[in-house]
Amino acid sequence: MEQWTKYWRKTTALNSFAEGQSALGYYGELELLWQAQLKHLANNASLLDIGTGNGGLAVLCYQYGRILNYQWSIHAIDAADINPILNKYEDQTINAAISQIKFQGNTPAEALPYANDSFDLVCSQFAIEYTNIELALPECIRVLKHNGKFVAIMHHQDSSIVADSYIGLRVLDLFMVESNVFVNIKMLLELAAVLILQGTNIKSSEKFNQLNRALFQQFKQLQGHFCDEATAKWCQRFIASIVPLLYELTPQSPALLEDYLRQLVLYRLRLMDQIKATLTTNHQHEIEKLLSKYQVKYSLENVVIDRKIFGTLLEVNKFN
Ligand SMILES: C[S@@+](CC[C@H](N)C(=O)[O-])C[C@H]1O[C@@H](n2cnc3c(N)ncnc32)[C@H](O)[C@@H]1O
Repeated sequence: MEQWTKYWRKTTALNSFAEGQSALGYYGELELLWQAQLKHLANNASLLDIGTGNGGLAVLCYQYGRILNYQWSIHAIDAADINPILNKYEDQTINAAISQIKFQGNTPAEALPYANDSFDLVCSQFAIEYTNIELALPECIRVLKHNGKFVAIMHHQDSSIVADSYIGLRVLDLFMVESNVFVNIKMLLELAAVLILQGTNIKSSEKFNQLNRALFQQFKQLQGHFCDEATAKWCQRFIASIVPLLYELTPQSPALLEDYLRQLVLYRLRLMDQIKATLTTNHQHEIEKLLSKYQVKYSLENVVIDRKIFGTLLEVNKFN
């Protein structure tokens, strides 16, 4: 869980896969989809968000409840050591929502700390599929009230998010495992640190200039390695995150590189988690087999956003 704990503690993004607008939660067609799931709930309904992260879905639920003028009681759990209340947003409605949601970190979905029949809605956005579903899904059903509903949007094997993660992992592996680019960066930064501490002008060191030129050559080669746009974008993204380390040289640069590499390893783990969590046809059959043992009605369907497959929607109604 370290990869998720460190991620959520470092970012104020409300949701994972957060870029630009989506860093402040779910919006557009996805927001409407969730609102359609929420609109039938009563004034005093209780909700639980599974694998909440920084609370993107829980905040969406809270804000929609306020639009309806309802007082929903919202709980949100995550196996990672989350604490969204520490995050502060310019948008005060987000801060207000977070202060009202009962977040609980270090809480795996496989052992929910709630009594049977506690919630009207249990929901999850890109999270239930990360759990041991054979244990977590029965737990979600157990804590649902009679006539309650479990709704989850899961990663779809044909979604662009998943396709993009495969590419990211491929590029990351090229940088971290197949090429020796980080060995060369380390050499350069260590040399720079020694030169700075000696009081020598870095630029006057022939060895430094040689290593520097070789490194930029290597960046060019790595960029040229891929010809399709999506892969080149990932490559560019990694290079852009490395370049500041090379421009601001200080005696601390080698330590900063070590820190950057530790983050990259955790990032790689999150990409791998996501790829492993992706719902394949086999996983889908396992879920269906599992659900057939319970007194529930369920459906699984594709979620299409901007005319592209975004995820798989699972709806489970507990009817006894
Ligand atoms: C891709 S993130 C999604 C977070 C959030 N729902 C969102 O939409 O941004 C997956 C989350 O699932 C959590 N998770 C993974 N395994 C879990 C488990 N067994 N029980 C509860 N949460 C889990 C991770 O810690 C992570 O925060």
